[in-house]
Amino acid sequence: MIPGIHGICSGCARTLASPSAFERKDFRKPLAGVSFAQKLVKFVYSIAITSQKGGVGKTTVAINLAHAFARAGVRTMLVDVDPQGSVGLSLTRQSRVLPGFYDFLDDPAIPVDKLIVPTRLATFSLIAAGQASNYETGGAMSGSHLARTRSFLRAVASRGFEMCILDTAAGLFGVTSDVIASSDAIVIPQQAEPLGVRSVPKMLEGLNRIRILNPRMKVLGVLLTMIQHDLAESREAGLALRQLLPEEMTLQTTIPRDGIFVRASAKGLPVGIMDDGAGAQAVFDSLRLEIEAKIEKSKSYT
Ligand SMILES: Nc1ncnc2c1ncn2[C@@H]1O[C@H](COP(=O)(O)OP(=O)(O)OP(=O)(O)O)[C@@H](O)[C@H]1O
Ligand SMILES: [Mg+2]
Repeated sequence: MIPGIHGICSGCARTLASPSAFERKDFRKPLAGVSFAQKLVKFVYSIAITSQKGGVGKTTVAINLAHAFARAGVRTMLVDVDPQGSVGLSLTRQSRVLPGFYDFLDDPAIPVDKLIVPTRLATFSLIAAGQASNYETGGAMSGSHLARTRSFLRAVASRGFEMCILDTAAGLFGVTSDVIASSDAIVIPQQAEPLGVRSVPKMLEGLNRIRILNPRMKVLGVLLTMIQHDLAESREAGLALRQLLPEEMTLQTTIPRDGIFVRASAKGLPVGIMDDGAGAQAVFDSLRLEIEAKIEKSKSYT
């Protein structure tokens, strides 16, 4: 088996060496259309959006990529695991009072259903960060929430979600490290500016430490964000990144710098919902297709 293509089995509470949701032909069909046997064992493919640096566009990517999957008919859960609650702040105005992911970490009795916030799109739901004040300084020891994070993902799978996108805080320590160590795959947004690009190899080194806990984790790639095609430095940063990393480590899709992302975030919307959002949404549709193809490709090596 190739790393990163395994789902989490809600039925037997362990990671399986068997097909994930992406590997089943019925991936896009609603749950009602699948057989009884398939309903008993459900899988979710989890992607953590992570970076060592802050402000590189993680939350923007998490929201819009999750929305792109949901629009394509994939039952998608977007989870805010940043104690600052960025997704929640963007998408649900009452996020500070909503129970969420950190309440699940703290309270073994809390059912995940209590945390799920549905949206107007039937295939798209959210879980806010919740009451995270104990975690806001990032002081939690790596590994101390691993079992609980894995159990969270199993609970999400058991509710019929096929894709789970997790927006993390910057850095690779504490709960973020446990989320990465529990996810099937990661995407690493990186702002297209020269200094940032030079920090990428260090980030990848940091990931090796987490890989020990999760050898199957697939790095879907570094994603260039806020690229400015009219600015030589920004274009050069993109080229430098491609020279620095093996081809499969960078995503071909790049996210342009565009004021629509700031406007969408101020309104609490994915860009695809904005009146003039078709172009920005198309970029995220390309990213979704590229990610799906990468997952399919890794499957074909098994
Ligand atoms: N492609 C883009 N074009 C223009 N502005 C963007 C783009 N992506 C993100 N932004 C803006 O840049 C700022 C930082 O983005 P975002 O919050 O997504 O980064 P982050 O990596 O999640 O930050 P943090 O590390 O603090 O969680 C926000 O104001 C956001 O609206
Ligand atoms: Mg963020």
